[in-house]
Amino acid sequence: MLNYCRIDLTHFGGVDGLQLTRHPKPALAAGQVLLNIHYSGLNPIDAKTRAGLGWAAQQNADKLPWVPGYDAAGQITAVGEGVDEAWLGKPVCGMLGFPLQGGCYSSMRSTDLNELLEVPKGVHLAQAAALPLAGLTAHQAVFEHGQAQSGERVVILGASGGVGHIAVQLAVAAGCEVIAVASARRKPLLQRLGAAQIYDYNSNWLADVSACADLLLDFAGGDFGKAALASVKSKGRVVTLPTVTADSVKQAACEADLDATGMLVHQDVDALQHLLQLVAAQKLTIEVESCYPAGSVADAHQHLEQGHVCGKLVLNWCQ
Ligand SMILES: NC(=O)c1ccc[n+]([C@@H]2O[C@H](COP(=O)([O-])OP(=O)(O)OC[C@H]3O[C@@H](n4cnc5c(N)ncnc54)[C@H](OP(=O)(O)O)[C@@H]3O)[C@@H](O)[C@H]2O)c1
Repeated sequence: MLNYCRIDLTHFGGVDGLQLTRHPKPALAAGQVLLNIHYSGLNPIDAKTRAGLGWAAQQNADKLPWVPGYDAAGQITAVGEGVDEAWLGKPVCGMLGFPLQGGCYSSMRSTDLNELLEVPKGVHLAQAAALPLAGLTAHQAVFEHGQAQSGERVVILGASGGVGHIAVQLAVAAGCEVIAVASARRKPLLQRLGAAQIYDYNSNWLADVSACADLLLDFAGGDFGKAALASVKSKGRVVTLPTVTADSVKQAACEADLDATGMLVHQDVDALQHLLQLVAAQKLTIEVESCYPAGSVADAHQHLEQGHVCGKLVLNWCQ
């Protein structure tokens, strides 16, 4: 019986490689659960991999069709051997299969229970699908790699994107003075999220913000990231996120006597639990700019790859 839908990436390139297909129910191994996915989160890596760029594309080149997506939220509808039936019907979310397996652009997915977290009351499943990868990245950039401390001045480049808008809130809550850099139209959002100063990246913002930051969180990378190094104090810290340009930003940082690091987000269910609790307590806002029906995944990818998403995009499997 063909009873669930998913998005197959059939070939690398344009959005025509994303095909909605139907399949029989996935099998469950011991310790696994079947997740009925209501929403899948989108991340820039999905569009890069679809285009055939990056490590996930290289490693999956001979495994097409491959199902993209690392973020999902929904309900548990079946449990495998050894899993307590009390999980049946629970709303859950998680970052699943990062970076090689993917599989969240799907209305159903089997997964190990220990990769999922219960979604607390008050958190919409669309937010829960938008949170995991971007939230964990923001958390790890601010605290694990950035070592942000109360009282420090932190410049966040790309402050209104999926990772950026969460990082702004985490750094503000940690007592940092946040200088947010985004396009002018994002000023009201960034004010609401607590940024102390907000600059338009199309302005000459570095004239005002020169050599004053303890930490730069570079979520834009490339030449924008390199230029933003001028905002950091001598011997200050830099975390640069886009992996494709990380080496060149790190090299430029080293030449400017700054301490720079790249990073790759990793699974951390304790940190994700903490972030979910912050959302439930309305101490962390997850902006979902657009929610696309799963069948409109091509439109969602075109939106995503323009690089101007405010917060997050999600796919809805229930429409
Ligand atoms: N290494 C890792 O583990 C890891 C994990 C997650 C993400 N990433 C990478 O990190 C980057 C950010 O991820 P994301 O999910 O936050 O992306 P996103 O949601 O697509 O972020 C786009 C944001 O970047 C802003 N932006 C565009 N050009 C800019 C510029 N010149 N200066 C400053 N901001 C600019 C846009 O602002 P406007 O809309 O205002 O133009 C938009 O809000 C992506 O390259 C992603 O692939 C890496």
